[in-house]
Parts: sequence; structure tokens; C-alpha cells
Amino acid sequence: MRLAVLGAGDVGRSVATLAGDYGHEVVALADSSSADIDPDGIAVDDAVSRKEGGNGVGTADPEDVFETEYDVLVEATPTTLGDAEPGFSHVTRALEADRHVVLANKGPVAERYDELRALEAESAGSVRFEATVGGAIPVLSTIEDCTPQAVTAVRGVLNGTANFILTRMAAEGLDYEHVLAEAQDLGVAEADPTFDVDGTDAALKFVILANVLADGGFSLEDATVEGIEDVPGSALELAAEDGRTIRLIGEATRDGVRVGPRLVPENGALAVTGTRNIVQIETRHAGSLHSSGRGAGGPETATAVLSDVGRLPDIERDD
Ligand code: HSE
Repeated sequence: MRLAVLGAGDVGRSVATLAGDYGHEVVALADSSSADIDPDGIAVDDAVSRKEGGNGVGTADPEDVFETEYDVLVEATPTTLGDAEPGFSHVTRALEADRHVVLANKGPVAERYDELRALEAESAGSVRFEATVGGAIPVLSTIEDCTPQAVTAVRGVLNGTANFILTRMAAEGLDYEHVLAEAQDLGVAEADPTFDVDGTDAALKFVILANVLADGGFSLEDATVEGIEDVPGSALELAAEDGRTIRLIGEATRDGVRVGPRLVPENGALAVTGTRNIVQIETRHAGSLHSSGRGAGGPETATAVLSDVGRLPDIERDD
């Protein structure tokens, strides 16, 4: 497949680097912060090295992507809330041109799922979004394989930054502020970690899961969300005396989404450590399935993008 990649952050650049391993070709890598336009297409390696050299993104203006001959739009621009723009408009343009869309950007899937599916229904293209939930862990394809109707709930840890902070607080007896600063120094937490620690990032992922289970109807405002900012070190100490710990746990069902700090058994499956994620998929007739792994990172998320690309059907087009 010919991939046009919008967004040249860690995920977009990793897609550009790894696409060849999966038999695909990146024909454009664009970022809105670039003023450079190459009408003949993008030299991806050059664009990536220029970005890594700190000289700006140096790829095409996103507008030029829509002039490129491509089969799949990979939407990897930063997640935005509310109207999910500009990601939603990018997706709209690709679907209206009968192209496939693979999203790493959570915004359009969490905030405008029903509109997204309506656009897909009118297009020859398909929409996939495995990379929006759980990084390298194949969460959505597992639900698809089980069939969503046979899944009653999905719960687990889907934010690595919050999990890292809680793990360190418990292991070292450190307070929240101290560990947050450490996580930022290590590059585990972003410079602005608000959405990781206040539960928004995890909630977006569980809203996406609720949409998949219920075939739509949910956005972030439907979720009940509590973050980890107010978890005191003493709560983790008390929990440990009882063989338990605290994790930021989310749950998606057809009835809604809840995310918040919860007590879990210290040696239980949900007490993953560091930046790992875990999901438990509750099936109607076959019990619980567990998967755990790396829930974030460029190559990890790109792996999910490229596995989605591999699941897309061919489109018959005249061009
Ligand atoms: N910042 C997220 C995390 C990954 O820490 O898990 C992107 O959703």
C-alpha cells in the first residue's frame, strides 16, 4: 500500500521508518509545522533525519498530501478534544476521496465516532484505529476476532505514564510530585503530562473501546474520570500492608466508561509495573482474555498502525 502519513512526531516517523519491513511504501510524510513543499513527493529518510537533526520537520504541508497518489492516509497528528480538529477534517477528505484511513490520533475516534462511521459508510475506503488503544497490544483486533457483541467489558491499565508514577510511588515510598518530576527527567512523562495524570488519555482510550462495543454513542463527556494527582503516598503504604496496590484502572462497557485510581491485588494481573499496559477482555461465553505489553512509543504504536494497514481490503479505483 502507498501510505500518506500526516504527523511527523514519534509515531509518524516510526511508520515512515518501519513501513518497508511490512511491504508498504510511504509516499508522503507531512507535518503542519513544515513550510517545505516537495511537489514530486517526499524523501522520507531525509525528512526523518532532518527532523531528528532538530532543523524542523522539513516535509510537505498537509495540503500537499491530498495531492499525492496514495492508498491509505495515516492520521498521526496530535490528539485534540471536542471537535477533534484538524484530524477529523483530514480523515473526512481521505474518505471522501475513497481512500482508507488508519488513525493513531485518538480524537476523531473518541469524540466523533458516529460521524466517522457515517463517513466510512459513504466511502469505498475503510477506517481502522488499533494504534489509538494500548500501543503495541492488539486490543481492537482481539475484540474484532471475538466479535464485539460477544464482549461484555474491557478493563485495565491504558496509561503508561500514570502507571510508572504509581509504581515508583509504591516501590520507593515517594510522593506524587517527586515521582512526576523524575518521570519528566527520564522522558517517560511529557513536558505537559496533564492528560496522562488527570485520566483524560486513559479515558479517551476507554471511550474508543465503549464505542467499539456499543457501535458508537460515546464521547469523552460521557466518561466518569478521576486522575492520580491526589493519590497520597500514604494510601499506597496502607494498601501494601494489605497485599494491595493502587493503579489507574479504566473500564468500558455498553453502559459507559469509568476511569480512576483503584485498589488491586499487588500480585494480580492488573498490577503491571512501570510503563506497561494491560487489558482484560471479558467475553460473554468464554471468560476473560488478558494481554499486556508496551502501550506507547513510536515503534510500538507504528506496529499497530502497520498491522491495521495489513488488514485493509484492496480498493478498485480508476486512478
Ligand atoms: N502518553 C500515553 C501514555 C501514551 O503514557 O501511556 C499515548 O496515549
